[in-house]
Amino acid sequence: MGDSTARDVRAWLRGLEVFAGPLAAFDPGAAPDDPVDLFLSWLTEAVDARLPDPHAMTVSTVDEHGAPWARVLILKNVDAAGRQFAAHADSPEGRQPAARPSPSTGRLSDARSECADP
Ligand SMILES: Cc1cc2nc3c(=O)[nH]c(=O)nc-3n(C[C@H](O)[C@H](O)[C@H](O)COP(=O)(O)O)c2cc1C
Repeated sequence: MGDSTARDVRAWLRGLEVFAGPLAAFDPGAAPDDPVDLFLSWLTEAVDARLPDPHAMTVSTVDEHGAPWARVLILKNVDAAGRQFAAHADSPEGRQPAARPSPSTGRLSDARSECADP
């Protein structure tokens, strides 16, 4: 592990602050009925807060052996049919959803974890 063995990585990681600052409030009862509206309101908050690349999402897929893959892609559209990303049709992220059409997307922002599963 090279230089990382020179210090106690376990203690270092466990010493880092988690969820520093106030967490955003979330009342499920006040959430819009349509999850797309909720997703867009969270994305709007991230854009308004000027987070870097707020529309960059981790898109996870599963290959033909059941192994999970994940990569960062830029969100290009959201509508009732789902989310659209720009990727080569020949790439793993282009091919795998055709065989197993339930990709998962998520984004970890400064304020909270935002996840959207179809
Ligand atoms: C912030 C960010 C945004 C990215 N956006 C895209 C994108 O919109 N489309 C794309 O094909 N790759 C994008 N990439 C590169 C992919 O994350 C990745 O490197 C590439 O698609 C290979 O993934 P794969 O091995 O699963 O095919 C982005 C990377 C970063 C860091």
